[in-house]
Amino acid sequence: MASRFLAPTMSILVGILLLFVHTSPVGAAGEVYKDPNQPVEARVQDLLQKMTLAEKIGQMTQLERENMTAEIIKNNFIGSLLSGGGSVPKTNATAKDWVDMINEFQKGAMSTRLGIPIIYGIDAVHGHNNVYKATIFPHNVGLGASRDPDLVKRIGAATALEVRATGIPYAFAPCIAVCRDPRWGRCYESYSEDHTVVQQMTELVTGLQGDAPSGYPEDYPYLGGKTKVVACAKHYVGDGGTVKGINENNTLIDWKGLLDIHMPAYPDTIRKGVGTVMISYSSWNGKKMHANYDLVTTHLKGVLKFKGFVISDWQGIDRITYPEHSNYTYSVEASINAGLDMIMVPYNYNEFIGILTQLVQKNYVSMSRIDDAVARILRVKFVAGLFENPYADLSLADQIGSKDHRELAREAVRKSLVLLKNGKNSNSPLLPLPKKSGKVLVAGSHANNIGLQCGGWTITWHGTPGNNYTTGTTIFDGIKSTVDPGTKVIYRNNPSDKFLKDTKFDYAVVVVGEVPYSETQGDNLNLTIPQPGLDTVQTVCKNIKCVVVLISGRPLVIEPYLSDMDALVAAWLPGSEGKGVADVLFGDFPFTGKLPRTWFKRVDQLPMNVGDAHYDPLFPFGFGLETHPAAAAKAQ
Ligand SMILES: *[C@@H]1O[C@H](CO)[C@@H](O)[C@H](O)[C@H]1NC(C)=O
Ligand SMILES: *[C@@H]1O[C@H](CO)[C@@H](O)[C@H](O)[C@H]1NC(C)=O
Ligand SMILES: *[C@@H]1O[C@H](CO)[C@@H](O)[C@H](O)[C@H]1NC(C)=O
Ligand SMILES: *[C@@H]1O[C@H](CO)[C@@H](O)[C@H](O)[C@H]1NC(C)=O
Ligand SMILES: *[C@@H]1O[C@H](CO)[C@@H](O)[C@H](O)[C@H]1NC(C)=O
Ligand SMILES: *[C@@H]1O[C@H](CO)[C@@H](O)[C@H](O)[C@H]1NC(C)=O
Repeated sequence: MASRFLAPTMSILVGILLLFVHTSPVGAAGEVYKDPNQPVEARVQDLLQKMTLAEKIGQMTQLERENMTAEIIKNNFIGSLLSGGGSVPKTNATAKDWVDMINEFQKGAMSTRLGIPIIYGIDAVHGHNNVYKATIFPHNVGLGASRDPDLVKRIGAATALEVRATGIPYAFAPCIAVCRDPRWGRCYESYSEDHTVVQQMTELVTGLQGDAPSGYPEDYPYLGGKTKVVACAKHYVGDGGTVKGINENNTLIDWKGLLDIHMPAYPDTIRKGVGTVMISYSSWNGKKMHANYDLVTTHLKGVLKFKGFVISDWQGIDRITYPEHSNYTYSVEASINAGLDMIMVPYNYNEFIGILTQLVQKNYVSMSRIDDAVARILRVKFVAGLFENPYADLSLADQIGSKDHRELAREAVRKSLVLLKNGKNSNSPLLPLPKKSGKVLVAGSHANNIGLQCGGWTITWHGTPGNNYTTGTTIFDGIKSTVDPGTKVIYRNNPSDKFLKDTKFDYAVVVVGEVPYSETQGDNLNLTIPQPGLDTVQTVCKNIKCVVVLISGRPLVIEPYLSDMDALVAAWLPGSEGKGVADVLFGDFPFTGKLPRTWFKRVDQLPMNVGDAHYDPLFPFGFGLETHPAAAAKAQ
């Protein structure tokens, strides 16, 4: 015990000293910034004072990978690259394709005068979701239903391994939005309408980045080595509070409301050492967050003591002006002076670099502002170990979609399911379903479709229906492999009334829901179950005892149809492991999920959140029936 305790303690102490204490002068031959034994802050200052304005502005520039070359990176001293949603080296790219691409870009950066490595970032928001055959975890709304921060932390650790496997050290996650209106197209990226649930789920940060050892300075960015990735708390701040849930719109709320509802998770992520914060497209009381000095500089960097770097959203600064990009000079000046450090440009680097250079030369942007931005970017790069390990290798390639990660995703699916109704009356529960039956119907558009059960941000930006985009098990696959071998399971997408009357089924599992979407494309004012899903529910449930499994990023209108259903399960957007749904339907595991959101009766009630004066939900926040394995055993 003693020796096991002593060794890490010693290395922690050394590590902490290295951050701040300038231990020894460096000989003429060595350069402080290249010396991993020097304190991070000394390395930052040493490198910063060696840099030209062009080298500094390059660090502040983040570009999309498409059409990008090592040459462009080298000539413009580019500091960062990203993959936008669905931006991949090629269809079905392997870990090697990714690593080769990123190493090639890195060569450009490492061949510059000072050899400052790029940091490559990607939206890994429910697993490493752009990557073929990666494990796709439930979207955040489902994880919110689990109320299990440790599960979320383990998902973060698994995601970090898969992201690193492709040579990427930086993930744009977690989204800590507090979605206050399900009409918002990003509501599924939010863990809950309740900030305390969102705060608990900031454990994703420690999963992605690792746990800072005790004694590590609070509020200082942390990264636990080559199996971890830099995280990004987003979108600062108030993204989930916009009018009618309109994406990127205006959050109308007073200062106290902003602090009480939308802000609380940020200090949690900062305390956990989050490396970066992304700014929200939205406005707060009419002021664009991308140009908000008070919130970015005074509050985030000042009051909350955030020491990592602040990054814009994709073309986020372009949208400071209306029409978009109508005065880019204004956009650059307003955003950099508000305190943004890195800009996700992501294409026209000539324009961004040219304008920012001129703004500095004409003193519209001060050199100290540039130095603050670059120091923060370098700090994160040093902490991330990029100077010591700029190139990726294939040592983690087998982590992508590994058996362990898929098991973890399946556990997450089980814990995310919320049982809303079980039986037409409380004396006749339908769930858990018996494994041994004659004939079972599985119906609905979403029952046998990986793309639909994964939702948006899966392989492509908006997500894509179908079973050929990536690998996993559908809910239908899961049911087939769970029931007794003697039970006959038949699948029909949208069976006819005649078929249902002619065939004797013991019961039906109907799986319907939303079609994949992301961001603005997902904004929706009616929140109805898309056709033919609704018809399928009504036709099947009229004929056969049915459990409806709803695949959706948010509560939908169900009140008028609820009485037709014998049982109802909210499965959110479960991801690649459909077997997790069958695990619970058939009682191998209990239902434990609790609503992370209020389930409304009618859209004209929206917005309606727990604690509101006019609260009149169909199912309240926190609702969720339970089943018990003991009951399952009896039922079989
Ligand atoms: C990349 O290059 C191709 C071929 O020239 C072009 O069609 C495409 O629009 C370019 N993409 C971007 C983002 O510039
Ligand atoms: C909010 O959306 C409305 C309607 O689309 C639009 O006119 C308005 O400019 C938007 N406001 C902001 C701050 O984006
Ligand atoms: C664009 O913004 C700059 C300053 O940010 C301002 O000086 C200039 O007048 C603006 N141009 C137009 C066309 O509005
Ligand atoms: C990608 O993989 C899927 C199978 O998962 C296959 O159907 C498809 O043809 C592949 N596409 C390409 C371009 O390799
Ligand atoms: C999947 O199949 C569809 C329809 O056959 C096809 O359009 C699409 O390109 C395929 N996707 C991949 C990744 O091969
Ligand atoms: C509901 O809204 C969505 C998004 O605007 C739209 O595509 C769909 O057609 C609407 N559905 C109904 C039934 O109005």
